[in-house]
Amino acid sequence: MSQDADKYVVFGNPIAQSKSPFIHTLFARQTAQKMTYEAQLVPLDGFEAAASQFFAAGGRGCNITVPFKEQAFTFATQLTERARLAGAVNTLKKLDDGGILGDNTDGEGLVQDLLRNQVELKGKHILLVGAGGAARGVILPLLAQKPASLTVTNRTLSKAEALAALFASHGKVSAIALDALSADQHFDLIINSTSASLSQSLPGIPASLIHPDLVCYDMVYGQEETTFNQWAAELGALKVIDGLGMLVGQAAESFLLWRGIRPGTEQVLRELRRALQ
Ligand code: ATR
Repeated sequence: MSQDADKYVVFGNPIAQSKSPFIHTLFARQTAQKMTYEAQLVPLDGFEAAASQFFAAGGRGCNITVPFKEQAFTFATQLTERARLAGAVNTLKKLDDGGILGDNTDGEGLVQDLLRNQVELKGKHILLVGAGGAARGVILPLLAQKPASLTVTNRTLSKAEALAALFASHGKVSAIALDALSADQHFDLIINSTSASLSQSLPGIPASLIHPDLVCYDMVYGQEETTFNQWAAELGALKVIDGLGMLVGQAAESFLLWRGIRPGTEQVLRELRRALQ
């Protein structure tokens, strides 16, 4: 690529596993954008220095992954509302006035992937399992779709309660203990935001919640079928979806913020799935 291509990176530690360069390179090709996108390993105590250096050298924008999303939140000079409420930033963009805008595209990436899978959210009852950073990042975009209810459950109930309180003024959101869940509650969609599948464990919701019209979404990807999705499918859930589409979806939202063009996600997702096999 020529010298004057716009520069983008993803910062993380570790970073070698990141799929973002693959995804954004395909987006750039698809939309004929003159840009480069690379992965950059940052020392654990070196995020601010790396980001400052990148923007000082003319970098246009970056993604931020584990463990720097909270530091990127602090680094930004302006925040979108969804980033402010997420308490974390996965996308930074250099503004014309020299400022740095911080955004969080994870939640919109999830919403777009659900809609792409023809999963309706408006008027539906959603159970969000987990109350860590991944859960916090998706609540506002989910509420924006006007579900009938959004219920947060978590192994540590106090964290679910804190999240519900944080978003109480933004929609119908409440918290419930894992052991208070029963077949009496009807959910249309269960989203697993915990990392349980990564250790081949289940997040602790009762099997009685699984019914033949239920859609299950696991934010984890990389297993042929995630532990949670395999469990739900065996219990007869209508449909199970893993988090690979959310990964591509959040990248598409970042790309849109940077370039003003919404890239297509279908083919990139297909190519990514093929590359991961
Ligand atoms: P992330 O940013 O990915 O959300 P996190 O902030 O460490 O990471 O949160 C992890 C979430 O997964 C938490 O909700 C955690 O439950 P606790 O708050 O009780 O720790 C949940 N989690 C992780 N492993 C789990 C498991 N094996 N079973 C149930 N919940 C699990």
